[in-house]
Amino acid sequence: MAIRILSGDITEQHVDVIVNAANSALLGGGGVDGAIHRAGGPAILAECQDLRRSHYGKGLPTGQAVATTAGRLDARWVIHTVGPVYSKEEDRSALLASCYRESLALADRLGADSIAFPAVSAGVYGWPAESAADIAVATVRETATSVEDIRFVLFNDDVLAAFQRAA
Ligand code: AR6
Repeated sequence: MAIRILSGDITEQHVDVIVNAANSALLGGGGVDGAIHRAGGPAILAECQDLRRSHYGKGLPTGQAVATTAGRLDARWVIHTVGPVYSKEEDRSALLASCYRESLALADRLGADSIAFPAVSAGVYGWPAESAADIAVATVRETATSVEDIRFVLFNDDVLAAFQRAA
């Protein structure tokens, strides 16, 4: 298994799975979620709406992951996971770790060989970059998976530097 830290726009990655830092509504949003839906087109949103109706009437719980196809993206699937909103009062690290673990488990079930992760929770959800990077890198390293090519694709310099340090 190879773990790489890359700078750039995750929607441009050529991988089997692109992971989306979604929200529990699964109906799109800003940040990387908005970028994935814009680049992938309406097919992804339509599948998300179906998933809401069929399985997640109350929304996808934090720390869990679901897959859709990838529309116009050069990927086979998008795995949507919901990171925790950062809290100073409550330690939600286990939920953030769960996003990475559940995404890898789902990628395994799909038979994916390669996956690209963004820095889940490190944007709108306010997670400090250093801590987000430590949790992400440690969790992926500790998780048994048959995915051989694992990439973190970071969009801004602070987060990129934090992941490089963590790795
Ligand atoms: N490629 C890679 N990383 C990106 C891209 C991109 N194209 N665009 C942004 N990032 P965020 P969250 C980085 O806010 O904190 C959404 O509205 C960004 O710089 O996308 O989990 C959802 O719908 C940051 O480092 O996700 C939810 O409501 C990282 O991706 C909420 O935001 C995560 O930032 C989720 O918040």
